[in-house]
Amino acid sequence: ALERTFSIIKPDATRRNLTGAINATIEKAGLRIVAQKRILLTRAQAETFYGVHKERPFFGELVDFMISEPIVVQVLEGENAVAAYREVMGATNPANAAEGTIRKEFALSVGENSAHGSDSLENAQIEIAQFFAGNEIVG
Ligand code: CMP
Repeated sequence: ALERTFSIIKPDATRRNLTGAINATIEKAGLRIVAQKRILLTRAQAETFYGVHKERPFFGELVDFMISEPIVVQVLEGENAVAAYREVMGATNPANAAEGTIRKEFALSVGENSAHGSDSLENAQIEIAQFFAGNEIVG
């Protein structure tokens, strides 16, 4: 089915000027970028966004990293977009990511892993609503 998923180009990637290279990978995979903006997350926004991880040992480090420099938030549209984008990103840890994936090509470590993508259609809708108004998404 035609779906929308939520994507973040993370600080390690914006810092290295990789926004365009990552967008090219996304578009080559057949996903359409139907909304996009560059923002600096507040600590509160980052803590809310990663709330499910708040008991994890890496939570503090994750929040500090995500607010350290600008990110690019995006809505991606395409056939089975949630699963399709997870495939394009590759495994969370770049050491395990397949050839040609965003994380294999660009990520530095499991924390500084260049991209986030929603893990389910339900979470995609929640995450999109945290950053975009309906009229900012133009399919
Ligand atoms: P993301 O898809 O944004 O969702 C949660 C993030 O936590 C994940 O990508 C990783 O970047 C980060 N993460 C997962 N495991 C670790 C870890 N062991 N150390 C630091 N960050 C981690």
